Amino acid sequence: MHFGVDYYPEHWVYPYAGTPENPEARWQRDIELMVEAGVNVVRMGEFAWGLCEPEEGKFNFDWLRRAMDLFGKAGIKVVLGTPTAAPPVWLAKKHPEILPKDERGQTLHEGTRRAYCMNSDVYWEYCRHIVRALAGALGKHPQLIAWQIDNGLGGHNTESSFNEETRRDWVAWLKAKYETIERLNDMMGTRFWAQSVTRFEDVPMPMHAPTVHNPSLVLDWMRFCSDTIVAFARMQAELLREITPNIPVTQNLRALTRHFDHFDMAEVIDFVSVDSNAAIKSRSSELACEIDMMRSLKKAGIKTPDGDTGFWVIEQKAGAVDWQDVNSLVRPGVVRMFTYQLISRGATGVLYFLWRQPRIGSEKFYGGVLTHDGRGQNRTYLEIKEVGQEIKRLAPALKDTKVVADACILFSHDNDWNLKFVKQPNKHFHLREHIQLYYNALHDRNIPVDFARPTEDLSKYKIVIAPSLQLLAGGEADLLKLYVQNGGTLIATFNTGLVDEHHISPDSGFPHDMIDLFGLEVLEFDPLPPGEENHLTLKGAFSATHLHPAKLWCDIIEPKGCQVIGTYAKDFYAGRPAVTTHQFGNGRAIYIGTMSHQHFYNDLAVWLRQLCGINPLLKVPDTVEVSLRQKGGTKIYFLINHQNSPVRIPFYKPMHDFLTGKTFTGNYDLPPHGVLVLDENTGAA
Ligand code: GAL
Repeated sequence: MHFGVDYYPEHWVYPYAGTPENPEARWQRDIELMVEAGVNVVRMGEFAWGLCEPEEGKFNFDWLRRAMDLFGKAGIKVVLGTPTAAPPVWLAKKHPEILPKDERGQTLHEGTRRAYCMNSDVYWEYCRHIVRALAGALGKHPQLIAWQIDNGLGGHNTESSFNEETRRDWVAWLKAKYETIERLNDMMGTRFWAQSVTRFEDVPMPMHAPTVHNPSLVLDWMRFCSDTIVAFARMQAELLREITPNIPVTQNLRALTRHFDHFDMAEVIDFVSVDSNAAIKSRSSELACEIDMMRSLKKAGIKTPDGDTGFWVIEQKAGAVDWQDVNSLVRPGVVRMFTYQLISRGATGVLYFLWRQPRIGSEKFYGGVLTHDGRGQNRTYLEIKEVGQEIKRLAPALKDTKVVADACILFSHDNDWNLKFVKQPNKHFHLREHIQLYYNALHDRNIPVDFARPTEDLSKYKIVIAPSLQLLAGGEADLLKLYVQNGGTLIATFNTGLVDEHHISPDSGFPHDMIDLFGLEVLEFDPLPPGEENHLTLKGAFSATHLHPAKLWCDIIEPKGCQVIGTYAKDFYAGRPAVTTHQFGNGRAIYIGTMSHQHFYNDLAVWLRQLCGINPLLKVPDTVEVSLRQKGGTKIYFLINHQNSPVRIPFYKPMHDFLTGKTFTGNYDLPPHGVLVLDENTGAA
């Protein structure tokens, strides 16, 4: 397992460290402290272009090589970032056309990272130069085990720019997609407000305008920008593979928050890396959800430096972030706890951001492993040192184990963009909150979850949940039918199949292309303001522990063969179906026509568990998070107490804990933020 830190050797030279005689003297001390903490890998270089090429064509990688050589002596491996996230000032001065323009056509100026337009040929050319030079200079260094492409692609809302070169690429993209202008006009529905065009060149970029742009155009724009970012990453990946074919390529992604298709991006890289701000989520399952999303991006063809099939956390924040209004200290034991949460859900490498709080620049109060003083006596360093020792003990047991899920939640970026950037029937509805309700119900019952796009092979899952796929392509609907036909259980919801991939609404009723699948038709839907509620009356095997509200959105359903499980309690649609199930082929298609509170989803999970034969991983108190990594017959359980108080765990059979070497039977009090890593191999205790 890889365990390490993000290191910026360029911050730790004279006059900020070292001496005039030996400006890099501090590096050695850093390495000693890292070794003591169990570090075996560092990531560096991702913002160092201006230091590696201080003047055009004058390259200097010697300092990076010296740092890598020193790491080599200590047996620490290196991930190098291509430095294209931060163009040097000289480049912007010479070629101001690389600077991005915002939706008002205003230039975003040089002087920070990410100041570039991803459609700039000039920028691509300079990137190829620096990447080639870097890979040529350091690609054969024995310490190098992976490349990171750029850094945080799409960060700071730089997914799109509105430069003339962008317009050129946009036009080419539209031509490739639609081939003829008639087809574009038809598919985009440009007759609305009579915005038809006669030339591809006249199709607008969705710049600042009096009111909203055509939703099909907005969606195509998002797809085009996503393709642009992915192409930029692919250009670098291909270049790196040509020069260093054996070194895997990664990229640091964030939990589906940036506006590009993360699944597409995952196809370009060899393994997924993640930035994690664990400490700022209010509910541990929110973070668990993000981790599962990221793990799910790449399910095949994974090539990590150690040949494992997991993902890396290339930036786990070692402490507080620096961009909230109040950046509170992360409490003792919490970084350790989150490290285990990440590992328990499939991470095979964890690197902390950042090694030491910098004395310079805009991130100087970001939490670091070391504080500014660099002494190595601070609380976080000591905590991470403890984790480092534990990981050494744990790594052999975890080798090649992975997370296996019976349940899957569907997510598509097209649909997400549609819900975020197009006018909606209810602006209080948020897809992410909707997903989270389903996720929490499974998470809190210790049922592992994968995420997938609707086009993936879903046959291995016992249940598939599809929250609010408002935009659903015809092909996607067909695949969902196939899944159910072959015996799967699909749960879909209100706000499904209202438009197709061109953002055209069906004239054959809602949900588009799936009336036969669910055995119902949605005749109308009633978006409710926050605070206004209907109620559900549930019957049969679905046992309700609470009175369940119907909130935000109520579908008015005409049954066409489905069995009704729940109805609305009031209003003109009182008695109409709200929750239904329908046998289709060998499987069943369940429809939930409204949104409710968490208890409803908890009851639903209990019902589904019985219906589909899904077993929870382990029986523990509700507040303990459980996950499982397995390989063949080997099963390693992680138990995490996210609470600030101890929690009593009854062990019905003896379990061995890897961290303490003890065997537990009977009651055990897991301390606040405590973690257990268990197997049933009590002979080893
Ligand atoms: C990451 C980025 C780091 C750092 C951090 C701060 O996305 O890669 O360089 O800036 O954000 O949040």
